[in-house]
Amino acid sequence: MLLGEGNLSFSVSLAQLAEQNVDMVSTTFEKEVHYSETAAKNARFLRRRGIKVLSGVDATDLTKFFGPVRFDLIVFQFPNVGSREPLYGRNPNHVLVRRVLGSAGSHLSYKGQVAITVVNSPHYDGAFDMDSAAKRNGYEPPRAHPFKFSDYPGYTHVKRKRTA
Ligand SMILES: C[S@@+](CC[C@H](N)C(=O)[O-])C[C@H]1O[C@@H](n2cnc3c(N)ncnc32)[C@H](O)[C@@H]1O
Repeated sequence: MLLGEGNLSFSVSLAQLAEQNVDMVSTTFEKEVHYSETAAKNARFLRRRGIKVLSGVDATDLTKFFGPVRFDLIVFQFPNVGSREPLYGRNPNHVLVRRVLGSAGSHLSYKGQVAITVVNSPHYDGAFDMDSAAKRNGYEPPRAHPFKFSDYPGYTHVKRKRTA
């Protein structure tokens, strides 16, 4: 299951890389009425492939959208709230990730995993603080893996507009 998919191009790339039909649910925070042309085109592509596309899904409140459903893998590519205004004294992106992990915990299968890709640059230094977000929600310490855009043809990462 994919969270915060923006223009859905990562989901499309995954679907195209899969050799067989892929059992996947793609979600966006944005409501479908606000989709860009690209997002709408990608949503149509995914649905034609039998992939469920859900809009308006808040990744911090998954039970509201998925009830008791559990997933083997929950993915969030480049979570970003578009603000740096501290929330409870913390970077708001850390708070987002912390809440997402809290919510995802109730929707993982027995050996389920969460994969979150974040930018590794001095600009974001410490912003996400994955270790403490994971620890606070009872996860094992996160393991870092490199992410190469070139592995996902067609993935056009959407940057979130700054609101503060
Ligand atoms: C930098 S964009 C990345 C979009 C997409 N994942 C990509 O890689 O192109 C950050 C995304 O996080 C989403 N987002 C922010 N808060 C969210 C929330 N509470 N639940 C789900 N998505 C959220 C935004 O809607 C935006 O699409």
